[in-house]
Amino acid sequence: MARKKIIAGNWKMNMTPSEAVELVNTLKPLVATEDADVVFCVPAIDIIPAMEAAKGSNIEIGAENMYFEEKGAYTGEISPSMLTDVGVKYVVLGHSERREYFAETSETVNKKMLKAFEHGITPIMCCGETLEQREQGVTMDFIRQQVKVGFLNVTAAQAATSVIAYEPIWAIGTGKTATTEQAQEVCKAIRECIAEIYDDATAAAVRIQYGGSVNAATAPELFVQPDIDGGLVGGAALKPDFGKIVNWK
Ligand code: PGA
Repeated sequence: MARKKIIAGNWKMNMTPSEAVELVNTLKPLVATEDADVVFCVPAIDIIPAMEAAKGSNIEIGAENMYFEEKGAYTGEISPSMLTDVGVKYVVLGHSERREYFAETSETVNKKMLKAFEHGITPIMCCGETLEQREQGVTMDFIRQQVKVGFLNVTAAQAATSVIAYEPIWAIGTGKTATTEQAQEVCKAIRECIAEIYDDATAAAVRIQYGGSVNAATAPELFVQPDIDGGLVGGAALKPDFGKIVNWK
């Protein structure tokens, strides 16, 4: 069965709640499609107003992070049931910015993955190498480790529903998109890694996105690759360009 594309915006720490409403309203007609799942992953405080604004459209509102405990003394964190209570179905986990600035590790990402599945939230799990790792030739070793630890104790049935975002760190926010060959090569290797952990059917079902300076010009050649099932888009998700990315065909 062909995998449905999934194109997600990662707003990062941008857009106040009122700006979020405006942006959703602007993008709503531009991202209308039945060919892809369209998700806006937004700051926690924007989730409810963005959802209100997105009502009646094909846009799903997701979160950018989530904690792995149910509740309690974790000042500043958001629990899985806080997200599901308002209807969130997707959460970005282990973005490189969270790993770099907020001490997120593959182990904490794994705990969050397990919690997300327990609550019926689809994780968009990020992985990706630094420029130094790429130059040292350890890209795949590093990413395989991120994927294997991230999916520890995740069942095949859960893994099949998940989304993995391959985001080379050197391509994020830099305007340097990986070449389509580089992106396809790593996404294919991630799928092979999932096949090794589980089986071919699970690998065939999991959706793998490319992320890192995706824009309207690069999206078509990336999304046509056999192992690239869409994109995780930062900067360009805040602009009308996102409509072109979603309707890349
Ligand atoms: P970018 O961000 O598209 O601005 O490079 C992508 C991401 O970090 O998800």
